Amino acid sequence: MKRLLVLALFLIFSGLETSAQVSDAQIEKKIDVLLKKMALKEKIGQMNQLSADAMETNFKVIQQGMAGSVLSITNPEIANKAQKIAIEQTRLGIPLIFGRDVIHGFKTIFPIPLGQAASFDPDLVEKAARVAAIEASETGIRWTFAPMIDIARDPRWGRIAESCGEDPYLTSVLGVAMIKGFQGKDLSNPTSIAACAKHFAGYGAAEGGRDYNTTNITERQFRNTYLVPFENAVKKADLATIMTAFNANDGIPSSCNEFLLKQVLRKEWNFKGFVVSDWASITEMVDHGFCSDNKEAAQKAINAGVDMEMVSGTYVAYIESLLQEKKITIETINEEVRNILRVKFKLGLFENPYVKGNLKEVFYKEEHLKLAEKIAERSIVLLKNKDAVLPLQQPKTIAVFGPLADAPHEQMGTWVFDGEKNHTMTPIKALQEQYGKDINIIYEPIVKYSRDKDSTDFAKARKIAKQADFVLLFLGEESILSGEAHSLSDLNLQGVQSELLETLVKSKTPIVTIILAGRPLTIQKDVEQSNAVLYAWHPGTMGGSAIANILFGKANPSGKLPVTFPKNVGQIPMYYNHLNTGRPANGSELSLNNIPIEASQTSLGNKSYYLDSGNDPLFPFGFGLSYTTFEYGKIKLSKTVLKKDEVLEISFTLKNTGKYGGSEIVQLYVRDLAASIALPVKELKNFQKIDLKPKEEKQVKFILPIADLAFYGIDMKKKVESGKFDLWIGTNSAEGEKVLFEVQ
Ligand code: NOJ
Repeated sequence: MKRLLVLALFLIFSGLETSAQVSDAQIEKKIDVLLKKMALKEKIGQMNQLSADAMETNFKVIQQGMAGSVLSITNPEIANKAQKIAIEQTRLGIPLIFGRDVIHGFKTIFPIPLGQAASFDPDLVEKAARVAAIEASETGIRWTFAPMIDIARDPRWGRIAESCGEDPYLTSVLGVAMIKGFQGKDLSNPTSIAACAKHFAGYGAAEGGRDYNTTNITERQFRNTYLVPFENAVKKADLATIMTAFNANDGIPSSCNEFLLKQVLRKEWNFKGFVVSDWASITEMVDHGFCSDNKEAAQKAINAGVDMEMVSGTYVAYIESLLQEKKITIETINEEVRNILRVKFKLGLFENPYVKGNLKEVFYKEEHLKLAEKIAERSIVLLKNKDAVLPLQQPKTIAVFGPLADAPHEQMGTWVFDGEKNHTMTPIKALQEQYGKDINIIYEPIVKYSRDKDSTDFAKARKIAKQADFVLLFLGEESILSGEAHSLSDLNLQGVQSELLETLVKSKTPIVTIILAGRPLTIQKDVEQSNAVLYAWHPGTMGGSAIANILFGKANPSGKLPVTFPKNVGQIPMYYNHLNTGRPANGSELSLNNIPIEASQTSLGNKSYYLDSGNDPLFPFGFGLSYTTFEYGKIKLSKTVLKKDEVLEISFTLKNTGKYGGSEIVQLYVRDLAASIALPVKELKNFQKIDLKPKEEKQVKFILPIADLAFYGIDMKKKVESGKFDLWIGTNSAEGEKVLFEVQ
């Protein structure tokens, strides 16, 4: 009796959870009923995704019940028409799900994901994804192929633009935020869109940073690094779908990796959404040399657990014969169709299949543009500010040069199919609008686009620069130079951009260089020659006003690098959370130019570094300056010896010692000093954004559950190992006070 009462009370007080459970159970029942009615062909149809290229043909395929999804319809009338055919002209009326790459905004374009990551601000990142969902869903899109939560440690890889950078913790936090933003509180809300975490898995580790290339990630590296953001996405954000990657890891293409898809994703993480292949990644298994033909590719993908096939049509072509030949089972097909139907039910598509299409009411709304400006401001990283040249102090004349000062298409960045450049606020437009009345702004691009090699107007540029109080030089790369299939082997500024900077130095006018790019570029010399440098990434629709606000101090930069900036391509791979060698360099090694002639073999110390570029990056992960200065007080630990189930409290005082109000992203790093496997020299475990007025100070507190120090060790089991740990609190991954604690 007593037990029943406790149970009743529990059910009352956990009401929300209970109703979710009931509705989950109800959904499963609905699927049971539907699956029983479905003919084999109708099941196969659900597993097939069409591309919107040929809608007239698609309408017929949909009518035959041979499609479960269409990718990239953006016109609500076409979406409704296709949906009407699915609902009214097929036997069972199962709705379609419309997908699209809504990567960093739909119409209102936010900074590229790598830029958003520099904000270290999950709240803003979630809001941006929400806006993207609101705008996209009005056209009928209820599924986005985002977020990309691949760990990206190679700036040659063009898709680093689409990532949250090199760190598993930061990527996890921001990935979860994006999914929550896309999916909203309730997936059945018409403005919610199913997220798709991609690419499962390891795609970012492509050899040499060349897109689609092979990866060689061990199980332990998968579990300790590359899978971490995906696990968080499944467990903390109720992720609806997941996309398999193009790469073959250790010879096994991702679209048939049973270990990843079955063992890890379904069994260990209990993923309940559906898995979609990447575009033709199933048929590409033939190119990989893993399958002899498309039929075998379909067989392997189905057996590995790829529920839906994106565009390549092998499921439609071969499932029936594969079943007859007993190479796949009907139980597998039923399970995979169930996964797809589950997401469709959760999205409320059966009740609400059509879309209103009030596009004008939702696109580019004032509040969306304001948010785009805010997150762009927060994503900008101040890399250098010699003699506090920024914020600009009452200039009379400024000279504005460079190919990215007025490039409305380029500043939106990669993966922009729907944002329109006529809505872009470019830097020059923003500067003229905000300051044009009071300041003489002379604008000449001089170099017309980033790859332009024409230096004819350099003398003119020098002449203008001489008359100005400041030069604002907008350099970087066009959006087409980053993104999918846009890898580069040379990361210097393209064309004659560096030469333009070099020639302007002769004018002796202070130069503020603003870089708009999709990746870390190798800008060592450009930084040296500039008085101040802002890294603005591809900042999206409102990037221009965000940059203007920062230049004139209406906003104080607080962005931090989500990825290490190498000095040159030869240093790559370079990431802060690397393993140590047995011969770590200490920074005092000789450089190439100081090596004595006929030096003896061992005179250089036999340490692990490059003779010509040392061991340090140009800028470390987590780096970013502010117009103000922050003083970190001494770290206090609640305990120095802890048990594995305890929580460590870390506190210190942070003081704004400068004259501007500002925000500091304080970062907490840990190193496990000796374990059953070697672990990274530093790992980000937490961060916070602290806002401080001038002279203000705050007590900052971090809570570190010791459980967060768990990793997959020698026995491939996740656990905390006893021993000593270094802990740092710092302004970036290369600085900060270090303290020691012990776990018993
Ligand atoms: C290929 C890309 O790898 C993937 O990220 C994208 O979502 C699909 N194409 C669909 O456009």
